[in-house]
This record gives sequence, C-alpha cells and structure tokens, in this order.
Amino acid sequence: MSKEHLIIFDTTLRDGEQSPGASMTKEEKLRIARQLERMRVDVIEAGFPAASNGDFEAVRAVAEVIKESTVAGLCRAFDKDIARALDAVKPAKSGRIHTFIATSPIHMEKKLRMAPEDVIIAATNAVRFARNGIADVEFSCEDAGRSEIDFLCRIIEAVIKEGATTINIPDTVGYNVPEQYAERIRQLRERIPNSDKVVWSVHCHNDLGLAVANSLAAVMAGARQVECTINGLGERAGNAALEEIVMAVQTRQDVFLCNTRIDTTQIVAASKMVSGITGFPVQPNKAIVGANAFAHESGIHQDGVLKHRETYEIMRAEDVGWNTNKLVLGKHSGRTAFKARLKDLGISVDSEQVLNSAFARFKELADKKHEIFDEDLHALMSDEVVTPDDEHFKLLSSMFHSETGESPQARLTLSAGGTERKAESSGSGPVDATFKAIESVAVSGSELLLYSVNAITTGTDAQGEVTVRLAKDGRIVNGQGADTDIVVASAKAYINALNKLRSGTEKLNPQL
Ligand code: KIV
Ligand code: ZN
Repeated sequence: MSKEHLIIFDTTLRDGEQSPGASMTKEEKLRIARQLERMRVDVIEAGFPAASNGDFEAVRAVAEVIKESTVAGLCRAFDKDIARALDAVKPAKSGRIHTFIATSPIHMEKKLRMAPEDVIIAATNAVRFARNGIADVEFSCEDAGRSEIDFLCRIIEAVIKEGATTINIPDTVGYNVPEQYAERIRQLRERIPNSDKVVWSVHCHNDLGLAVANSLAAVMAGARQVECTINGLGERAGNAALEEIVMAVQTRQDVFLCNTRIDTTQIVAASKMVSGITGFPVQPNKAIVGANAFAHESGIHQDGVLKHRETYEIMRAEDVGWNTNKLVLGKHSGRTAFKARLKDLGISVDSEQVLNSAFARFKELADKKHEIFDEDLHALMSDEVVTPDDEHFKLLSSMFHSETGESPQARLTLSAGGTERKAESSGSGPVDATFKAIESVAVSGSELLLYSVNAITTGTDAQGEVTVRLAKDGRIVNGQGADTDIVVASAKAYINALNKLRSGTEKLNPQL
C-alpha cells in the first residue's frame, strides 16, 4: 500500500530558540539549517523576522542558502509583521508565511483583549494579506488545545476561504492528552468544509511530557504535518522531539498510514550540533539520541542482543547515525582533505580567511590529539563561527598554576578591541581564577548562569567542550569553547559569551 507523506516541520530555529538561553547567532542558525536540509526536513521555520533585526537577518540568510527545504518565517496576524516575514523569506526557493493568533477564551480575553469576532477578522485579513505575497500560507490558532471547538471551526473555515494552505492546531500550553487531542483533530477535519484542501498540522508542547504522544495520536487522526524540534528543544518543557516522531513513524509502519522522507542517519549529528550550539545537554537516557539509547547494561540483555539483536532492539543504532564517528583526519591530512570532510559534514566555508584559520587550528589540534573525529571538527568549526571582525575579546595566551595547598592562579593575555591587556587572578579553582581574570579586563558585570563541560569524544586526550551561559540586563547568551585543555576551553567559552553579549540584538517576545 502506498503511504501518504508526513511533512516534518522543524522549528528548532524558532520555537527551540525561544528556550531561555538557547538564542543563536545567524551563523549558528545557518549551520543548523544546513544540517536540517541534509536530514531532508520538509519545512525549516527559521525565526520570527519581526522580533528583531537579528532575527530578520537570520531568516533571510537561511532563505538564501537553503534549496531543498521550504523556509518559513513566523509572524503575528498584523500586516506589519507579515510584510517583514515576506521580505525575509523572499530569497527562498520555496518560502512559507506562518501567521498566528490566539483563539482560546483566556488568550482572547486576557492577553489580546479582543472580542472573538475581531479575532476572526484579524485572522482572515492576515491570511489574505499573506496570500497576496506568497502561495504557501500556514495559519495557527494559538492555544487551540484550549479553544472552543465551535469557534475553531468558524475561524478555520474563514481562513481556508482566504487561501490558507496549512492549518496548525497548537497545544501551546501542553494541556492535552492523546485521545482528546486526536478527537479534536478528527472533529475539525470532519466538520470544516474543504478540510481536505489543506494540510492539517500539529504543534505540541511538552508540559505534561505528552508532546510526542499527542502529535502521534493526531497523525493517526489524519494530521499530515508535525511541528517538532531537535532534542525536543522549545518554550518551557519544549516541543515534540523530531527524532522521536520520525523514528516512531518509521519503526511502526504497521500502525501509521504515512511516512517521512527524513534521512534518519543524520539524526545524531543534528542532535549533537544543536546541543553543542545551545549548551543544552542531552540526557543519557533520552530516546534515540541519548548516549545510552542503544547501550545494554544488564547481562541478560547483552546475552540476548549478542544472540539475536532484535531480542532487545527495535531500531538499529546506525540507522539514526550512531557509530558513524569515523577516524577522519590526522596531522598529515592536507587542506583539501580537511575542506572535503567539512563539506561531507555539511559545513560549508565560504571565506578563504575562515578556512585558513580553521585549517591552522586543525593542525594545532592534530599535533595535540592524533585522532581527529567528526565531533572534533564540529567543535572546531563552532569556534570558528564568530568571524574575527566580530571578536572584541580574544585570548592570546594563558598560564595556569595550581598546587596543593595554594590558591590556583591564572595569568592571561587578552586582546580587547585590538589592545593587548594582561590579566591575573586567583580563584577557588583554575576555572574560577580564569573567569575572574577575564572579567577584570572585560568588566561586563554579567551573571554566570551555567558552566558545563563535556568530553567531545572518548579518551583522556579528548577535547573538552565547555558551555558558559551569561545573563546581563535581561539578555541571556551561550558561549562555547573547545580544547584538549579544559581550562583553555573554559576561557574560550567565557570570551565567546562576552563577545555575543556585546554584539547581540534585542528580541520581542513572540507570544505578546
Ligand atoms: O506554541 C505555539 O502556539 C506556537 C505558535 C506560534 C505556533 O509556537
Ligand atoms: Zn510553540
């Protein structure tokens, strides 16, 4: 039997980015977008162009480079927001406008302070305005999970008449349970005229841990687009995890009438990339992408798997991209091999200057660490994404001293706006001393919210990847740094975060 297509709409770069501390630079968004395209995601929601100039630029940059996926921009149901989003997605080979307005009694009365009739007028005007600029228009009823079904029927019928092509039913606050949510989708499809002319989409939040279950129940009820994020990133408890949706549908083809076109072997790489860029670690027991997702500890399980893998495994680790970290390069590898491997990993380097500097750093790393894995290259390139012109602070050299019974000392040379500055401090540990030394030069006054270290690969010569999250005046940024010396990695991460704080742009709250 031929299966229907299930559209995978990834919103890591929009809803995912709305997680406090997960905001991304344009370059980071571009790296993730390229990986999503490699994974054959159907729609990439790249951001909310009216939220800030930075968001606009990022959506536009994604629209310029992505060719195999549709690029969507989110906007409220106002002409000004929609015009901005239209402008941002204009360069896309295939672009989409995603406009939304709240439809639940509580949101309409308390947040929008609008009468239901006026909400219908705003929604129809918005869809009409968007359709004048683009053929692909998605309309979302924000908080549809708590909206009255009769009102949903009225507003959706009206926007379909105006030309909406996809109708999204978000469970914005993660309140629904699978049977009830599926029933809602079924009823809407049955009751609304021309419901077969649009794609029904779901967008579930995970406040009760039900985002994936609700999305899959909706797919069984006829939804043919699922909005989801890598690692389940997203507002509060997050969104439905893309990897879980895709693998559930693929593994249980006996129960689903549809399938995706996702290249599942790219899943683990996408998960690691998003975790590295946002600094949100993946819990070891997370389905599909957790480090233990395919590890068997108990003797009985190990014995079973050795005798016949399917005794305890319903999916193959290699099908989602585990065990593919090949030894790729070493210190004798040349620039061409280095560039080719980056291309294989979906990292395209447009500037010769960035390539030269990345290659020089690769050689340095290969001297310290003889085996260079794909994960090392990802980390190396994420250090490279802040172009030299953007870097106000740079680490020029470092010296650390730590001895039993003595306070650890850090002595650093930094460049601050091109001027060489020496900094020295003691601290309760070498990392604390390093951060204090940097702060004595930067005087940022920022608050350290998170400090985390992960080994990128195995072995004691592995690089440590450090994430530092800083907050200042209501803005939160993540900095990353990687090095075989974790104190140096920490210094790089702190400096990266300081540079982001200096160059950041303010955002509006999209839920306003
Ligand atoms: O959760 C939500 O309702 C949203 C919409 C803007 C689609 O993110
Ligand atoms: Zn959402």
